[in-house]
Amino acid sequence: MRVLISGGAGYIGSHTAVLLAGAGHEVEIVDNLVNAKPTVLPRIEQLAGTTIPLHVLDLCDREATDALVAAGNYDAVIHFAGLKAVGESVERPLDYYDNNLNSTISLVRAMGAHGVRRLVFSSSATVYGDAAQPPLMEKLPTSATNPYGWTKVMIEQVLRDVAAADNSWRIALLRYFNPIGAHPSGDIGEDPQGIPNNLVPYIAQVAVGRREFLNVWGNDYPTADGTGERDYIHVMDLAAGHVAALEKLDEIGRPVNMWNLGTGKPASVLQVLAAFSAAVGRDLPYRVMARRPGDVPTSYADPHLAEIELDWRADRTLDQMCADTWRWQSQNPTGYPDA
Ligand SMILES: NC(=O)c1ccc[n+]([C@@H]2O[C@H](COP(=O)([O-])OP(=O)(O)OC[C@H]3O[C@@H](n4cnc5c(N)ncnc54)[C@H](O)[C@@H]3O)[C@@H](O)[C@H]2O)c1
Repeated sequence: MRVLISGGAGYIGSHTAVLLAGAGHEVEIVDNLVNAKPTVLPRIEQLAGTTIPLHVLDLCDREATDALVAAGNYDAVIHFAGLKAVGESVERPLDYYDNNLNSTISLVRAMGAHGVRRLVFSSSATVYGDAAQPPLMEKLPTSATNPYGWTKVMIEQVLRDVAAADNSWRIALLRYFNPIGAHPSGDIGEDPQGIPNNLVPYIAQVAVGRREFLNVWGNDYPTADGTGERDYIHVMDLAAGHVAALEKLDEIGRPVNMWNLGTGKPASVLQVLAAFSAAVGRDLPYRVMARRPGDVPTSYADPHLAEIELDWRADRTLDQMCADTWRWQSQNPTGYPDA
């Protein structure tokens, strides 16, 4: 297939581009580089062993997006592009609703206009809100606790409505749990700008000396060691989930599908810290702080639907996730070079 990857210069998109090209698909990337650097491109191409064109444009620009899709002759789109920082979305809600909703509407309009009706969308476990009890299953109602999460809930609804109006669409709403890790080469990985919002990039920066210590937000949760538990999934397994979803969309034949991509096995903050320390070969410093408002004790997927329907499974271990993150971070202590 000829596949357009939106947001393909970012963390998950870059890994998916490598895997998809490796599986024999023709890949192009569109990204406005708001949260990525162009220096990722030669690395993606090297790992993929092929050329991958990068179109630098803002998907909110309807004319430019339409022109791209009109000329591209694509069979499918994987839509990663979006803003993703929860805290920032609380401070700047309009930027999040504007960017995430309008880029999606512009892209889906262009796809509809030019006969491209296979779409894989980056949703998130955040659409389960904070009230549901894990393991979280696809049939649960959706909700959110912050503007970022609402953009995912709303985009899912927009896409369900699009598929209801025209049942020739084949759409996958992939609900990711907590992606971490990096390509095993250490050449590409997660490169957060500013203070990392997520646990593992933060620990990785402690390990290379860019941060002093890890803040552990609460150790009095009703979990095995008192710290919060999440379902961490290796980004290469996550990327493979996209390839599987794309390749199964036609065979499954439903206009719209929701699939969790997770391992179903939660790990605590202290377990992740121990696994990362083992990868680095020394104990990493941390301090226990008060709980953060809004954090739930435990969240993990019921991954069975994706396992059965996509014949896919996330089986890389937490140790692999930490070892691969560490390889990337130690080889690239300050992330990708500037252009
Ligand atoms: N990383 C996670 O923990 C996680 C979890 C669940 C869901 N997701 C979702 O997966 C997707 C990819 O996440 P990621 O971690 O790779 O993020 P990322 O920020 O690394 O990648 C997103 C890319 O989209 C680009 N982009 C943003 N707005 C754009 C626009 N208007 N036009 C063109 N490009 C635009 C950015 O420059 C960036 O390269 C996002 O939609 C995110 O919400 C991520």
